[in-house]
Amino acid sequence: MTGHERFRFGTAEALREKVRALGLELPFAEDIGPLLRPGAIAGRTVPNRLAVHPMEGADAGPDGAPGELTFRRYRRFAAGGAGLIWFEAAAVVETGRSNTHQLLVRPANLAAFKNLVAETREAAARTAGPGPVLVLQLTHAGRFAKRNGKPAPVAAQRNPHLDPLLKTDAEFPLISDSELDRLQAGFVEAAEIAVEAGFDGVDLKACHGYLVGELLAARARSESRYGGPLENRARFLLETAGRIKKRLPASLLAVRLGVCDGVPSPHGFGGSADDPERPDLAEAAFVVRGLRDRGLDLLNVTLGIPAYKPYLGRPFDRPAVGNPLPAEHPLASVARLIRAVSALQGQFPDLPVVGTGYSWLRRYFPNVAAGAVGTGRIFMAGLGRLAFAYPDFAADLRDKGALDSRKICLACSHCSELLRAGRPAGCVVRDSEAYRVS
Ligand SMILES: Cc1cc2nc3c(=O)[nH]c(=O)nc-3n(C[C@H](O)[C@H](O)[C@H](O)COP(=O)(O)O)c2cc1C
Repeated sequence: MTGHERFRFGTAEALREKVRALGLELPFAEDIGPLLRPGAIAGRTVPNRLAVHPMEGADAGPDGAPGELTFRRYRRFAAGGAGLIWFEAAAVVETGRSNTHQLLVRPANLAAFKNLVAETREAAARTAGPGPVLVLQLTHAGRFAKRNGKPAPVAAQRNPHLDPLLKTDAEFPLISDSELDRLQAGFVEAAEIAVEAGFDGVDLKACHGYLVGELLAARARSESRYGGPLENRARFLLETAGRIKKRLPASLLAVRLGVCDGVPSPHGFGGSADDPERPDLAEAAFVVRGLRDRGLDLLNVTLGIPAYKPYLGRPFDRPAVGNPLPAEHPLASVARLIRAVSALQGQFPDLPVVGTGYSWLRRYFPNVAAGAVGTGRIFMAGLGRLAFAYPDFAADLRDKGALDSRKICLACSHCSELLRAGRPAGCVVRDSEAYRVS
């Protein structure tokens, strides 16, 4: 085992030396030019190869309409110059919300979402260069759904590894096939609302253990059109994607896919039989092929389930309170993410793929991301926690050629703690005016 360590690299060479010492490989480029080149996603232009990842802010009103802090966050992201802003997980039905402050896409919130898109585009228009592409992530929180602060799981299967995390009655009911049929329609309706609000397209969230991601793992779901063999497990995602593309052919169809959830076989998705944390991309590739056939325009690749093994998807210095320190070095987690994303991009070279796993690299992330983009390992690099801390990272890279180390994310997990508590999530270190731990 490689051993967890905090980030402590004074130079890029020291970081690269550690990568070598750990027997890992990371792309690296001195020239960050590849990040600043425009690119095309299904006929739309992104002005650069830097994306803001979807990041739940838990700051919507109880009705699910964006709140003041939601507007502030997206104005700041837009002013920050990223080429793609991937708006956070927004529930498509009330029972699919992860907390009472999660965005909810429903007809009554259309005007509010329109305002959010308009303000975001206006903030971008005040800056240099063409504006970003805007995608909204649609979700159902599934087994992690909550009502009034209490777990209200809507799970696809029993799972001995994940059920204990719910701290609720183990006999919670499983979602039925007819409810899933109806939910497909809920996703389609939400997609229509999002496009009417002005988004360039929608993402079906199929990751992090939430319902659509969990269905991909639902081998233990018996006598169901949505469980057992892979064709059935992928059915919800593929059919819903196909229906959305048919209804909204001119809009971008995106998916955020968790290609390996880290849960041991047979209850997980995408892990190797002997090591659940080592991605085996055969099933993920089947899913992506099916999505491509149905008109997928854009893919964002991620790993893990934050409530289970958070280091797989968001390598950190300090774990969130109550979580153990992982046994592996954060660079091993970063390298796993980058390997998995590049392997999939390699199988689908014409599909724009957004990579994950860069915030922990701090001021050296642009070199690694430029190495990945420049060699075709990814189309764009996505930033999550770093965007909370430093929303104008892309503008600084464009205008100054480097990041300001006083603004970067410290991977301290406070934003994760805020979200877990259902409180407005943001950077308590770099944006303490708006966010506080206590
Ligand atoms: C507070 C918080 C909220 C998040 N919300 C979402 C979300 O809404 N949708 C999603 O797909 N991922 C979400 N993520 C995961 C991020 O998009 C991203 O994959 C992760 O933070 C790793 O990227 P990073 O290292 O750049 O932070 C969230 C992560 C955090 C810490």
